[in-house]
Amino acid sequence: MNIIRKIAVLTSGGDSPGMNAAIRAVVRKGIYHKLGVLGIQSGYQGLLKNRIIPLNLKTVGGIMQRGGTMLMTSRSEEFKTESGIRKASAIIRDNKIDALIVIGGNGSMAGALQLYQQEGIPVAGIPASIDNDLYGTDMAIGVDTALNTVISTIDKIKDTASSLRRAFIIEVMGRESGYLALMGGIAGGAETVIVPEFPANLEEISIKLKQGYERGKTHCLVIVTEGAGNPYEIGKYLEDKIGFEMRVTVLGYVQRGGFPSAFDRILGSRLGSAAVEQLLQKQYHHMVVLNGDKISAIPIKEVLSHQKPLPDSLYRLADVLAR
Ligand code: F6P
Repeated sequence: MNIIRKIAVLTSGGDSPGMNAAIRAVVRKGIYHKLGVLGIQSGYQGLLKNRIIPLNLKTVGGIMQRGGTMLMTSRSEEFKTESGIRKASAIIRDNKIDALIVIGGNGSMAGALQLYQQEGIPVAGIPASIDNDLYGTDMAIGVDTALNTVISTIDKIKDTASSLRRAFIIEVMGRESGYLALMGGIAGGAETVIVPEFPANLEEISIKLKQGYERGKTHCLVIVTEGAGNPYEIGKYLEDKIGFEMRVTVLGYVQRGGFPSAFDRILGSRLGSAAVEQLLQKQYHHMVVLNGDKISAIPIKEVLSHQKPLPDSLYRLADVLAR
């Protein structure tokens, strides 16, 4: 198949801290291998509008420490259609782009696979989503930074909760993935986590919380994934049962922002570099992944045909440590 001379990179879907490190690595690694590197602005939507800029060592200078994505991102409905994919492919060919690197979550990987399967465009995927819901990689870019934001907020809420002997429900992002809630609960010392992957028994939770107060606990924190239920309804139920005032805090978009942690900068750098290598090795439909300390790659098709499991053992650990 094609010789790769010119590549393009885009970020798609929700931004996540560390995307800039991945863009920088793609550009630097590409230039190291004498490839031309272009940046597509605003994800697939920008691709459909031909928003393409040249990238060089200078354009990616000073971006590593910045949150968000210097290429900007979007969620595109048009790109999901067969005609959208065809149009995108024509624009890729017109710009003489030999391969595309896509940085994003599951939806972004689905788009990349579609480009490969329908139009034969070589692609490489880089997992980036604070939800950590991409199958096949231990961590996606942005998760570590988001988790640190979650726990620093939990710490702060704990201060006010203890001062007033109040109970708090904290809703964290993650869609249907309970990773941020579970790890945030463990690292933040929450009393309970409620995640989509494991059924929650509110009656049991209320008994546990009540017992905690009776033992002299001065606060009570329940961390809930956004996809696991309405925090206000859960709060109302628990308040009635345990007889303590319950307050709700929805963390929201603060979890996506902020300067990337060292872990995310390093992960972004390693995965960005590995994605270019994939293309040079003529692997044209893979996503680069982190397993333990090793970077490798798996077919995007495999990523999309599995749900990333939330380890049972960690869910049990959270429960044991909270008692
Ligand atoms: O996938 C990342 C994420 O932040 C989810 O945790 C959240 O549900 C969603 O994106 C929010 O999407 P949007 O940015 O479109 O509001």
